[in-house]
Amino acid sequence: MMRNIVAGNWKSNKSINDAREWIGVMERDMDSLPDDVKVMIAPPAPYLALLVNLSSSRLLYVSQQVSATQSGPFTGEFTAEMLVSCGVDYALIGHSERRASYGETEEIVCKKVRCSLDAGLGVILCCGENLETRDNGEQEKVIRGQLLSALEGVNALEMEDVIIAYEPIWAIGTGRTATAEQAALMHKFIREWIAMRFDSETALKTSILYGGSCKPSNAAAIFAGEDVDGGLIGGASLNPEDFKSIIRAASSEL
Ligand code: 13P
Repeated sequence: MMRNIVAGNWKSNKSINDAREWIGVMERDMDSLPDDVKVMIAPPAPYLALLVNLSSSRLLYVSQQVSATQSGPFTGEFTAEMLVSCGVDYALIGHSERRASYGETEEIVCKKVRCSLDAGLGVILCCGENLETRDNGEQEKVIRGQLLSALEGVNALEMEDVIIAYEPIWAIGTGRTATAEQAALMHKFIREWIAMRFDSETALKTSILYGGSCKPSNAAAIFAGEDVDGGLIGGASLNPEDFKSIIRAASSEL
């Protein structure tokens, strides 16, 4: 069983030339990276098909976006089937930036999960509380609600294609990470919730990633938590050297 994963999320950054250069550096050094860590990257969608074709099979591709519908008259949308046909492996769903700024409701998140799983596209399901919720100590209630609605109708077998990313909103792009203890506690809570909602074997097999100001200097401490299986990395994934350090920190071979 390989639970360790490091996934980079470039968000809306990099030109196509910068993207190709980054892929070149990663591919050159891929053999020197620990082989018990799955490496994933989520570039801007227009680059996906090209970059997939430039890469080895070790590098898995994630779309930052996916449609909540099948194909049809939906200008600007792209479906899970289209992504699969381009060689994309996963889609990020429920990222707080999309929930906050692009009207991605619980219902839409759930539809995107369904469309993706039906098409054979893996899901990285993001959840996370805002600062007010954390200050009120209600983070577990919020995470439970997000997971419950996003995974409505999903069965244990389908969970093999689902990765959970815990990304506290107050830690994203702020330089303020969750402490290793805060991450460990929430990841334990999420794994227990999966065991209750599905079964303990499913809970054990599911990767739970931490995201939010994760960087080379703090990755090892955060990943040391028993239920922290790796990270979803924003800013620090833009630089391949930083990203590689974080991949090394996620290895169990340390
Ligand atoms: P940062 O690592 O830049 O805080 O972003 C985290 C994130 O949102 C990854 O999806």
